[in-house]
Amino acid sequence: MINNDISINVSELIKLSNKFIHYQVRYKAAIRKVRTYLQILNDEFNISHKRNPIHHMQSRIKSPLSILEKLQRKGYEINIDSAINNLTDIAGVRIVCSYLDDVYKIAALLKKEPTFDVKVERDYIKTPKPNGYRSLHYIINVPVVIEEEQLYVPVELQIRTIAMDFWASLEHRIRYKNSNKNVPKKLETELVKAADDIAKLDKKMQELYDQTV
Ligand code: GTP
Ligand code: MG
Repeated sequence: MINNDISINVSELIKLSNKFIHYQVRYKAAIRKVRTYLQILNDEFNISHKRNPIHHMQSRIKSPLSILEKLQRKGYEINIDSAINNLTDIAGVRIVCSYLDDVYKIAALLKKEPTFDVKVERDYIKTPKPNGYRSLHYIINVPVVIEEEQLYVPVELQIRTIAMDFWASLEHRIRYKNSNKNVPKKLETELVKAADDIAKLDKKMQELYDQTV
């Protein structure tokens, strides 16, 4: 047992890790492409508006252990082909914006970019998750050429404000501390309330910013 929820077969994990080394290249390439595109957007915006809509970005490639856990959790076959075909969040980029409007500005520009094929859009800002989670999610297909072969690599994008990011990071830790499931009811209610308060603050900060322009 490596975590509290799922038992892990170590030989399966080693097999998956060894195979994944080869495929990591394409996910790294896709992440680099997305990050570069967003960096350029931010720079352009800075020239025309004298500020950066993107506060910071984070990216990650899912570890073989997380890949294995997700395949098990979702009931998919445990092998590298199954991971490549079924998991769309092996590559992830998180874009943390200063203000609420910036989230939608970045999203609109991204959707206009013909290089990226938007496959899935989920607006957890307009419709937050029941636990209070807010973010804009996209799965996009990013074209990369690896060993002369044209590939379309899925990348999960999360776009959110600093305030939403603050909540999500701390909530994640609380959930993790409670083994992902046994969050006491009272704590759950308090988390939803904290998320609602944070959403009000986001609106307030946007209003204050709008008064300055
Ligand atoms: P996963 O199986 O967890 O990847 O979820 P999914 O494939 O059904 O997609 P979903 O849009 O629900 O979540 C994708 C990712 O968003 C997660 O891996 C987290 O990084 C983030 N996320 C979604 N819900 C929550 C939440 O309630 N709290 C926090 N902190 N992060 C969340
Ligand atoms: Mg995920």
